[in-house]
Amino acid sequence: MGGIVGYIGDKQAQPILLDCLVKLEYRGSDSCGIAVLDNSIDLYKDAVRVRELAKVAPQLSGTAGIGHTRLATHGEPSKANAHPHLDCSGNIAVIHNGVINNSQRLKQQLTAEGHHFVSETDTEVIPHLIEKYYDGNLEEAVEAALRDVDGSYAIIALTVGEPKLVTAKKDSPLIIGIGDRENFIASDVPAILDYTNRVIYLEDGDIGVITKDSMRISRGGTEVNRKQHLISWSVEEAQKAGYEHFMLKEIHEEPRVIRDTLVGWVSEDKPAVDLAVMRGGIESMLILACGTSYHAALIGKYVMEELLSIPVRAEFASEFNYYGQTLARTGAIAITQSGETADTLKAMKKLKDVGCQVLAITNVVGSAASRIADQTIYTRAGSEASVAATKSFMAQLMALYWLVMSYSKIDARRLADLIMELRQLPEKVQQVLDNETKILEYAKYVSRYECVFFIGRGINFPVALEGALKLKETSYIHAEGYAAGEMKHGPFALLGSDTPIVAIVAQDNTYEAMLTNIKEIKARGAPVIALAEEGDEAIGELADSIITLPRVDAIFSPVVNVVALQLLAYYTARQRGCPIDFPRNLAKSVTVE
Ligand code: AGP
Repeated sequence: MGGIVGYIGDKQAQPILLDCLVKLEYRGSDSCGIAVLDNSIDLYKDAVRVRELAKVAPQLSGTAGIGHTRLATHGEPSKANAHPHLDCSGNIAVIHNGVINNSQRLKQQLTAEGHHFVSETDTEVIPHLIEKYYDGNLEEAVEAALRDVDGSYAIIALTVGEPKLVTAKKDSPLIIGIGDRENFIASDVPAILDYTNRVIYLEDGDIGVITKDSMRISRGGTEVNRKQHLISWSVEEAQKAGYEHFMLKEIHEEPRVIRDTLVGWVSEDKPAVDLAVMRGGIESMLILACGTSYHAALIGKYVMEELLSIPVRAEFASEFNYYGQTLARTGAIAITQSGETADTLKAMKKLKDVGCQVLAITNVVGSAASRIADQTIYTRAGSEASVAATKSFMAQLMALYWLVMSYSKIDARRLADLIMELRQLPEKVQQVLDNETKILEYAKYVSRYECVFFIGRGINFPVALEGALKLKETSYIHAEGYAAGEMKHGPFALLGSDTPIVAIVAQDNTYEAMLTNIKEIKARGAPVIALAEEGDEAIGELADSIITLPRVDAIFSPVVNVVALQLLAYYTARQRGCPIDFPRNLAKSVTVE
C-alpha cells in the first residue's frame, strides 16, 4: 500500500515529486522517499510524513525522478525500509506498491549470487533482479525481472545513463499522465491533477516507458494502445475548500453528491437502467464488498429483498474468497469506492471464473474493478481524500436505490412515491447538516468514553455497524455496532454508566422492538443517545438525549441516520485531537489481501 509517483520533463523533479506525494498520503503513509536522476542517482528517504521530509531533504538536482509513500507490510517503518530501493551498484532505483509473495526465496537466491540486501522489504529484490538482468536496456531488464516475481506490483524503475522511467503493473493501480514536454506516472489521478488531466490507465501485464516527450506501452514486447482519458475533477475539488478536514468537507458534499447522482440517472418519472446482471433468470443476488462498502451492501440487501423480492446475500469479499459457494442463477455486484481493494478484486475474478455476470459499483473511472466487471455503475462522489469513507458511501447507497428501483415490480404508486422521496433526499440531508452544532455537543459527551455501542434493527442495523466503524477509525474509541435484539445475548454484560449507547430508532416495523430494547438498556444503567424522527414523542420519555432527524420513508432512513453518525464520529475525533483524515495504521485503498 502507499503511493508511487514518477516525473520526467524539463523542470526540476524534486519539488514536483514531493508535491505529488503529499496528495498520495491518503493512501497510507508511515515513511516516504524520493530518488532523482542526473549523472548519478541521488536519494533521500526516511520514516516521516512527506511534509517533514520536504523540510529536511537536501536539494537533489535532476529533471527525472521517482517518489514513494509507504505503509509498511514487510518490515517496520524505518529509513532502511522506506523506498526507493537500490541495487548493489546504486545505479538502479525502484519504488513499488504491492506485495512480492516469493521475496524470501528470491532474496536467498540473489544473496547466493552475491547480492547484498540492506532492508527487510520484499521490494528490494526488484532492483537486484533488474541489476541481474540489465544489459544496457532498462525496459528489457524490468521485463525479465518481473518474470521471476510472484505477487502484486506497481513499480517505477530508473537507471543511470538512460533518461527514462520504466513502469509496470499487476494487481496494483497505475496511471501515466501526459503533459507538455513532461510525463508522469502515479498510483492515481489526484496525485498529478495539478500538472495534467490527461491520463492513461495501465492494465495488468503492461510495461510503460516514458521520456520527457514520449510514452510507450507494451506487453510481452509488443506495443499496445491504451485509451487516453480526460479527467474532469477540478484540482479544487481534491482540496479542502476551506473546511478544517477533508472528512468534514466530504460530509458536507453529500447533498450535492445525491443530487449529481440522481440527475444523471432518474428521468422524469422513472429510473431507467439496463444491466445484464439483472436479466436472464436471476433468482438470487450476491453483493460483495469490504469495510464501509460492505455496509452499503448490507443496506442494498434489505432494499433488494423488499423491492425486488429475491433472496440477497451480502458478504465480505475477504471471506467469500476462502469458502465454497453455490452460485447458480445468481447475479453478482461488487461495491468498492476505490475500485482497487485487493479482496474485492479477487472475489470479482473468482466470480468471473465461474461464469457469473458481475456488476461493479465504484467511484473511480477506469479502476481495476471497472475493468474486471461486465458492467459498471460509476458513483459520482468525486475524489474522496479522507480515509474515512463518507460521501462515497452515500453515493453507493444512491446507486443501489436507483438500481433496485429500476427493476422493482412494486405497485406503481408506491414506486412513484419513492422516486419523489428520493429526489427530496438532498434537502433532508441538508437539514441534518444544519443540525451540526447540536451533534457537536453530543460528540463532546461521547468523546469522554472509551466504549460505545451503536444499535439498530432491520435496514438500520448496517447503519449501526457503519456508525461504529466511523467512530472507531476516526476517534480511536472502541465502538461496536450491534443488532439491537442481540444485545441481551452477551453484550449486556458490558453495560453500565460508562458505556453509552447510540440507538437508531426508525419508524418502521422495528419501532416497538427498539423501544423495548432501549428500556432494557436503560434498566442496566447505560446512557442512551437516540437518533429519532421528528415528532417521535415516545422516544423523548426514554432516551437521555435525542438527535432529531427529518422524516423520510423508512427505506431511506439509513441516508439521514448515517450522516448524523458521520458527524458524530467527526466531531468526537476532533474533540479528542485525532488525525482525522489519516488515522493511524489505515490506508484509503487497501491494495493487499
Ligand atoms: C471506511 O471508512 C474505510 N475507508 C474502509 O472500510 C473502506 O470502505 C474499505 O477499505 C473498502 O474500500 P473500497 O470501497 O475502496 O473497496
